[in-house]
Amino acid sequence: MKIGIFDSGIGGLSVLHEAYHHLPDQEYIFYADTEHVPYGLKTPEQIKSYARDITQFLIEKGAEAIVVACNTATSVAIRDLRSSFSLPILGMEPAVKPAVEGTEDKRIMVIATPVTIREDKLRDLLHRVDEDHRVDLLAMPRFVEFAEKEEFEGPEVSEYIRQQFSSFNKSEYCAVVLGCTHFNYFKPSLKKYFNDNALLVDGNFGTIHHLADVLGLKMSETPDNEVKFDDNHKMLCQIKTDYYFSGKMVENEKDLEHLRRLHNRLEFVRSN
Ligand code: DGL
Repeated sequence: MKIGIFDSGIGGLSVLHEAYHHLPDQEYIFYADTEHVPYGLKTPEQIKSYARDITQFLIEKGAEAIVVACNTATSVAIRDLRSSFSLPILGMEPAVKPAVEGTEDKRIMVIATPVTIREDKLRDLLHRVDEDHRVDLLAMPRFVEFAEKEEFEGPEVSEYIRQQFSSFNKSEYCAVVLGCTHFNYFKPSLKKYFNDNALLVDGNFGTIHHLADVLGLKMSETPDNEVKFDDNHKMLCQIKTDYYFSGKMVENEKDLEHLRRLHNRLEFVRSN
């Protein structure tokens, strides 16, 4: 099956990477809207219009199902997309439910973009699953900026994390929900800040599992096989994917090399 996956930028690549591990026999079209990133600072109307155009584009390229690999676009545009198109469209929302269910009594922090934090979709989710009011919310838009610059570690990132969390007592937290797909790249920096005492919960596995369910696909029995590129730029497991940056197919060596580095970073993050 041909599956279209889109995001404002490279965050969605973490969802594609998860799909490579669990659904390696499918074909993918990956779309990063590099001309409009960050969505987290746009208006709902703008995001809806980008999401509609991208979905149309992916359908024209042969996608038989769409994954909105972006919590921000899901929170404002998913209903609109589902009513405009008839193929299966899966969205993403911060994985608050598994975080609440998988932990006992300490606090949980949801980090996401300002749009995701503001939207009713997250309020409704908290209303349903956060009965004990253990969840706090924090917008971290600069993570998107750092990620797009491929700056995942280092003094500026650490300082940003320290500043953003400065009004909270980190020892009170048992989990951090990564409510934006761009944030996956920062897991090592977040682990370091929390001295490995907070569980980092993302929605990628849940999304791919759901996708497999909806499409009736069988998940891989060897999901831990390495997915990375060797020194000759060859992917260790060959999975057919067309990459697009805002409607343009990625063909030049510089951008392809960028994507390879990101996949290798995601593989590193997965095993560390
Ligand atoms: N990766 C996106 C998300 O999951 C959006 C980041 C952005 O463009 O602000 O929310």
